[in-house]
Amino acid sequence: MPDYPDAGALKAVEAQLAKYPPLVFAGEARALKARLAEVAEGRAFLLQGGDCAESFEEFCADNIRDTFKVLLQMAVVLTFGARMPVVKVGRMAGQFAKPRSAPTEVQDGVELPSYRGDIINGLEFTAEARTPDPRRMLQAYLQAAATLNLLRAFSQGGFADLHRVHSWNLGFVEGAGYERYRDMADRIGQALDFMSAAGITPDRAEQMKRVDFYTSHEALLLEYEEALTRVDSTTGQIIAGSGHMLWIGDRTRQPDGAHVEFCRGVLNPIGLKCGPSLSPDELIRLIDRLNPRNEPGRLTLITRFGAGRVEAHLPALIEAVTREGRRVVWSCDPMHGNTVKSATGYKTRPFERVLAEVREFFAIHREMGTHAGGVHFEMTGKNVTECTGGVSAVSEETLRDRYHTACDPRLNAAQALELAFLVADEIQRSASAERPVAAQ
Ligand code: PEP
Ligand code: CO
Repeated sequence: MPDYPDAGALKAVEAQLAKYPPLVFAGEARALKARLAEVAEGRAFLLQGGDCAESFEEFCADNIRDTFKVLLQMAVVLTFGARMPVVKVGRMAGQFAKPRSAPTEVQDGVELPSYRGDIINGLEFTAEARTPDPRRMLQAYLQAAATLNLLRAFSQGGFADLHRVHSWNLGFVEGAGYERYRDMADRIGQALDFMSAAGITPDRAEQMKRVDFYTSHEALLLEYEEALTRVDSTTGQIIAGSGHMLWIGDRTRQPDGAHVEFCRGVLNPIGLKCGPSLSPDELIRLIDRLNPRNEPGRLTLITRFGAGRVEAHLPALIEAVTREGRRVVWSCDPMHGNTVKSATGYKTRPFERVLAEVREFFAIHREMGTHAGGVHFEMTGKNVTECTGGVSAVSEETLRDRYHTACDPRLNAAQALELAFLVADEIQRSASAERPVAAQ
C-alpha cells in the first residue's frame, strides 16, 4: 500500500470518490459472470487484453479506439476460427496501479520511491513526482469514466457492427499478417450477404450491430477500490463499482491478505493470477475463500508461468481443482512469465515465447480433458516496438524506435492479431481432439 504523506488529503479524496457515481452497475457485473460461467462450462472463450498500465499522458480517444478495434478484430478471428462465442474484456478504464518488486529505485546514487502507476505517483524521477499523491485517484476516476463512456458508445452505437468487420483495420497492419484477416473478413461478409438474402436482415439480427464489452483491472489500490464500492439495491450485496471484473495479482494473493479479503466481499467476477510459487493446496484455500459457493463464472484462474515451465506447474493445479470439483475458468497470461532484458537494454517479451506458453497451456488442457478457456494479453492498438518477433519482425535493435509503455512491454496490433489466429488454431485442435472418433 502506498505511503501517503498527507493523511488528511487522502481522507478527503476517499470521501469525494465515495460520493461519485459507480462506473459499472451490478446487473452488468452479473451479466459478465453469466458469460464467464459459459466459459467455465466449456462453451465459450475469454479474451482479455489491454495496457499493462494505463497512463494519464497517453490518454486520448485514438488510443482507446485503436485498442478497442484490435480487441474486436481478435474476437472476430477467435469467434470465426473457433466457432465459439468470445467474451470480450478490456484491461481498460481502471488499470492504473502497478505492483513493484522493490519499494525504491536508485539512479545515479539517488534513491526515490518506485513508480507505482499514475493513480499513485508520477514516472518522472524527481522526489516530487514520486511522492504518492491521493488526488491522482480523482484523475484516474475521471479518465476511467471517460474511457468507459467511449467504449460504451463504440460497442453499442454502430461502430462494432459486424458488417464493418473490414473497417476495423489499422493502417499499419496492412501487409504483415493482414492478408489472413482480410480473407476471413471477406468470408464473414459473404456469410452476412447470404443471411440477408435468406431474409435475416441486420434489423432482425440486432445482436450483430452491438457487442458486449467489459472492463477489468487489477484490484491493487484498495483505497480507490473501497471508496468505489456500493451496495446493490436489489440484493443488498456489495459491488466494486470501479470495473466489471477485478483480479488479484500474483504478488498480493496471500489467502489472509487484504486484497483477497476485499475481493471476497464483492459480487463481481474475480480473476486470480497463478504464478510458479502457487501450490495446489494454497490454490484450493484461495478458491475456498473467493468462491465458497462454487459459482461458475465467479472465479477465473489466470496462469502465468513462463514458456517451458507450464508443464512443471499447471497439471498439479488442474488436478487439484478437478479433484475438488471446483468450477473455474482457466485462462493463460503468456506475458508476465516471459519478460526478458534485450541485449539493447530494453525489457521485452519475445513473440515466440509468448506463443510457446499459449501452446503449452492448450496442450496440457487437451491432455487433462479440461477447457483451455481464455487468454490474457498486454497489448495496444498502436504500432509500438516493445515485444520482439512476430510477422512485424521487431528486432532487439528496433525496440528503441517506438518503445512507449509506462510499464511492461505490450504486443502491438499486428502481433496481437497474429496471436489471435494462432490461438484460434489451438482452440480448433482442442475441439477436434474432444470429438469422439466416430463423429470425426
Ligand atoms: C499484470 O497483470 O500487470 C501483473 C503485474 O501481473 P502479475 O500479477 O501476474 O505479475
Ligand atoms: Co504487466
